[in-house]
Formats: sequence, structure tokens, C-alpha cells
Amino acid sequence: MNYQAPKGVYDILPDKNFDKPSLQSSSLWNYIEKICKEVAQNFNFEEIRTPIFEHTEVFTRSSGETSDIVSKEMYTFQDKGDRSITLRPEGTASVTRSIMENQLLRKNGIQKLFYFGPFFRYDRPQAGRYRQFHQFGVEVFGIREPELDAEMIAMLMQIYEKLGLTHLTVMINSIGDAQSRDNFKQALIDFLKPFKDKLSKESQSRLEKNPLRILDSKDPQDQTIVAMAPSMNLFLSEDSRKYFEKVCQTLTLLQIPFVINDQLVRGLDYYNETVFEIITNSLGAQNTIGAGGRYDGLLSKLGGPDTASFGFATGIERTILTMIEQNVVPSFENAPEVYFIPLDEASKKICINLMNSLRKDNVRCEFNHKNFKIQKGIQNALELRSKLAVIAGETELITESVKIKNLKEKTELTIKLNEFHKIVKNLLGEKH
Ligand code: HAM
Repeated sequence: MNYQAPKGVYDILPDKNFDKPSLQSSSLWNYIEKICKEVAQNFNFEEIRTPIFEHTEVFTRSSGETSDIVSKEMYTFQDKGDRSITLRPEGTASVTRSIMENQLLRKNGIQKLFYFGPFFRYDRPQAGRYRQFHQFGVEVFGIREPELDAEMIAMLMQIYEKLGLTHLTVMINSIGDAQSRDNFKQALIDFLKPFKDKLSKESQSRLEKNPLRILDSKDPQDQTIVAMAPSMNLFLSEDSRKYFEKVCQTLTLLQIPFVINDQLVRGLDYYNETVFEIITNSLGAQNTIGAGGRYDGLLSKLGGPDTASFGFATGIERTILTMIEQNVVPSFENAPEVYFIPLDEASKKICINLMNSLRKDNVRCEFNHKNFKIQKGIQNALELRSKLAVIAGETELITESVKIKNLKEKTELTIKLNEFHKIVKNLLGEKH
């Protein structure tokens, strides 16, 4: 039988398997994770790791029963104890559950958390859309200030900038407080009702249940109708309007260009006030690489105190695909620094020892396990792009020395074992 990974998932593999930058290259994944964590640290965030699965209600209560994620895309199953369990489709609900369960706000009422990990959605796979995908996300609890909203958008842009990405557009909107949204919903329903028969089947069914999502429809006919709909901005309460103005002013202060898109609604039900998406022109249909917004009140919906919250997540796959498209993937140095080539059993013992001590000292080493042949050994070392080769055989054993070949500079020297460590570190230079 020929086993294959299920549809919509893929392996992340060592770099050397690829001739050109790849979504599957593990070095690239480590690099992105490192940059995300660096930026998170500069913004004074700390890491949270929540389980891959939760009780299903954590997601149905927070994302909303009518959202696509809950109604169509969740990996849900009954476990052996007959509980309904769901593989997390996103991070915000899990983090909110954890805040509550672990009473993380009890000290000063504020938490700034980040996470990096896999998420699961059952959707039709295509370029930029997977069934297991990864996000780097942040969630801030306990701050309701427009400056924070702008600061978080700046944070995500800083990550993209550090990764070398350009040509990104920040789309931003305010969907207001609950009252503003209810007023707008009603106006939207009143406007769309006469067009009901012309709307797509999906939008027809959303008309009563979740009319705001019709603004998000990809159906061309829906889009033509929606273009004539009243603008959400007209329905914002005075407070929401002022709040949003301040968010925009702070973005300008931070020199982040943005586009106000009054049809931006987001696919999850927990949002209010500020919402945003960052769009790349380097991907096709799946062109949103990161997104988020304010979700005040989600904690109270899950049974906790009424708490202000704001967060975002960037899709790692879409970030990588954009990096590849924009040609900004760096090259990674995965070569061993020292390659050991013993020529007999006795020298093997010496080499293993020398190698062990170098490794303890953070030197990347490899060993020719396969044979005692010097030419084959050198060939392997060259293929792995090792800097130095250490050769030990009968002669070296007698003189208590080893031979070192500098494969980059094509030089060779014999050194005494008691000087080995010092000389190798010298030859390796800077890092050491
Ligand atoms: P989201 O818009 O559903 O928001 O997802 C955020 C990002 O995850 C998307 O912009 C996209 O890059 C990536 N993404 C989503 N689904 C897939 C998929 N099937 N394949 C590949 N990439 C995907 C959230 O998840 C919210 N929890 C964000 C947030 C955090 N809001 C507040 N805090």
C-alpha cells in the first residue's frame, strides 16, 4: 500500500531536499518563527500554548454558529468518553478560554499573549488554503484604547517588514458597537430584501441569520448588489466613530498607510469596533495574509468578566508563499562545521571523543559512519558543504595527532591532540 498524507496537509522537510525556496523548508519555518517571536518580545508579549483540541462549545460559542468556520469547516468528533471535541480552527477562542480558566487577569487585569502553531479547517484545499495550516497570533486582554489597536497593526506590519515583504495593503474598518451593528444590520436587510432572488443561494440564507457576511461574498452578482448598499460608517455611534478616527490617526502617526474599506466585516462573529486585514498582491484568491480586530466581550460570553480584547493572526503558509513570490527568502547555512573521517576502529574512538567535546562547545559536527575510506569521507564532507574535515588513521594515532583539511581554503595541517580544540575553534573563526 502506498501511504500519502491526507488532502490539504503537507510535511515540512529539511532544506536540502529543495533546489529553490519552498513552503516545505523547515529552515524557513524556523526563521519566520524566530522573527515573529523577536517582534513579540519587543512588544512585550509572552507565549501561551493551548491544546490542539477543545470542547466544541468553546468555538461554537465564540466564533458564532452561523460563521463558515463553525457551520462548515470544523474537525469535530466524539471522543471515547462521548464528548464533542474539535480540533482548533483558530486561536482566539482557545486563548480566551484559557484566560478564564487560569484566571490570568487576576493580577493587573492585562495580558499580552502570543502563540505559534497548527490550526485545522475543513475547506476545499487550494493554493494558500490548507486543512492544517499555521498561524502566529497575538491576543491582548484588558486594554480598550485606539492607540493599542493601531499599535497591533503596526506590530504585524513590522513582522512582515522584517521578513522583507512589500506591497501589502492594510484594509481597515469599524463595525462599531453592538447597537451600531444592529442598526446597520436592519438597514442592510431592508436594502437587500428587494434583491433577494438575485442573491446567491448562500447570501439568501444569510439574509436573516447573518446579513453582514453578505458584504464579504465572493459571488460577482452579490458584489454588484452589495456595492450599492448603505455604508456601515453612517450607522456608527458617536463613540465608535470617534474611536475609529483615533485608530486611523495613530496609524498615520506610525506612518502605516491604510485603506478604509467599509465592507470589511471578517468571518468570525466575535468582532466589534476595529477590524482589519492585510492583503498581498502576490497571491491569487487567498490574498489575506493576516487579519484581526477588537473583540471586547468575548470573555464574558464564555462566562468571564466583561473585558476589552484585541488580537490578530498571520497565516504562516500565506506569509511564506508571499515571500517566495516576492523573492525575499534568505539562504540558510545548514552545513556541518567539522566533518570527522576516521580511517580505522582505533581512530574512530578518538574521533568520537573529539567530536563530542566540540559539540558540547556548540560546534556543528558530522561523522563518517559508513566506512574508513578517506576519499569517500572527503566527498561526503564536500557534499555537505562542511568547512573542515578531521582525518585520523594509524599514523596520526602513533603521533597523537589528527590531520585537518580546510575544505574551503584547500589547505591542510597536522595538529597535536592536546591543541585540537583551540586550533579548530581558531580555524572556525568569528562565531566561536
Ligand atoms: P482568520 O482571518 O480566520 O482569523 O485567519 C487569520 C489568517 O490565517 C488568515 O489571514 C490566513 O492567512 C490564515 N488562514 C486562515 N485559514 C487558512 C487556511 N485554511 N489555510 C491557510 N491559511 C489560513 C483568525 O483566525 C482570528 N483568530 C484572528 C484573530 C486573532 N482575531 C483576533 N485575534
